[in-house]
Amino acid sequence: MESRRIEKLRARVVFDSRGDKTVEVEVTVDGFTARAAAPSGKSRGKREVQPFAEGGAEGSVRALTEASRRIIGATMDDPLAVDVLLREIDGTEDFSRIGGNAALATSVAAAMAYAGSGGVPLYLALSRHLGVEPGIPLPLSNVLGGGAHAGSGAPEFQEYLLVPVGAKSAMQAIEANVLAYRKLGRLLSQEVRGYPLGKGDEGGYAPPISNRKALELVARAAQEGSDETGVRIAVGLDVAGSNVLDPKSGRYALRSDGLYLTGEEMVSFIGELVDRYGIVYVEDPFAEDSPELFADLQRSVPRAFVCGDDLVVTRPDLIRSAMERGAIRAAIIKPNQVGLLSVAAESARVCHGLSGLPVASHRSGETTDAYLSHFAVGTWCRLIKCGLIGGERMAKLNELLRIGEELGGGRMRGLSG
Ligand code: PGA
Ligand code: ZN
Repeated sequence: MESRRIEKLRARVVFDSRGDKTVEVEVTVDGFTARAAAPSGKSRGKREVQPFAEGGAEGSVRALTEASRRIIGATMDDPLAVDVLLREIDGTEDFSRIGGNAALATSVAAAMAYAGSGGVPLYLALSRHLGVEPGIPLPLSNVLGGGAHAGSGAPEFQEYLLVPVGAKSAMQAIEANVLAYRKLGRLLSQEVRGYPLGKGDEGGYAPPISNRKALELVARAAQEGSDETGVRIAVGLDVAGSNVLDPKSGRYALRSDGLYLTGEEMVSFIGELVDRYGIVYVEDPFAEDSPELFADLQRSVPRAFVCGDDLVVTRPDLIRSAMERGAIRAAIIKPNQVGLLSVAAESARVCHGLSGLPVASHRSGETTDAYLSHFAVGTWCRLIKCGLIGGERMAKLNELLRIGEELGGGRMRGLSG
């Protein structure tokens, strides 16, 4: 590929969907300027990179601006070329000098500017560079939130998800999930006292109910939605197990169900829920330092996808070892967990190469940027977890519609490879 030059870089502080500060970066490559901001998580894995430098988002902007002297003037031979330089400039293992969010915003803005200066969208520049056939991932949509993303009284499991397994287009997939989401709203207002239609950080309902009740209603809404649309809508779950574990007792505290379970009991409990509600996807069912429990569960529900998020934090080495020991069959790919688009793409490649399911994912504190959709389409991600309701969530889904139009239909990916 031809070489292009980074002409300008500018960083600033902006706000995310939760009102927290984050970093936005503008990069100009051969006269084309692109802009990207990084999201932030609230239920973060211990092994993620540091999102910000010392001094928070402002400190990161200062550190990146200082380092920009080394970036401006550099050449890019491919859309991910700036990543090598970012790693050198930061020089730490955990990106703590400039912060993972400043690194990622630069990595993405540079990739977009490189693509744009060559007259192509980001997904196409990535897919050509990586040798991937572009395809539309299935949306994995949060319709009910609990845990760290909701107030007390909401269920302890963090996310109840829908996946329109047989959808033939992005339009059909989004329509099916929205229809089931609305059905869930009606079921909740009929069945739950209090304030059942409040929203969690990712736009799903956050009602004061137990995990069992939440699953029952989400499964019913999914079934009714499937019957009405003819698209099979399956249920997924993100337990965010590290936040459910009570560190003092070592038990999983499901207060809303009146259950305090040991690791082994939690394996059986989740296994029963998977069978009973036909759950196809279970993310972080246990704390991130218990891979053996993940493996026990994956063995007991071989058809479901046990997925690692905090367990593997978008690191190729951790994804490989967790998959090789049979702990997971799917991995969450959150670019800001590692701070570089190239590492996130490598993680998706490793997961795909081991016959797993890579899932591109947003964070709970998001921006209205839609590069996550381009990343998913241009790499190996078969699902995209980006929420459903709320402008910052819908921005990613609407971008899938536009990309789908360009691809000319019929390029839907799915749960099975
Ligand atoms: P976070 O959580 O973005 O708040 O870290 C999302 C997730 O656990 O998937
Ligand atoms: Zn998660």
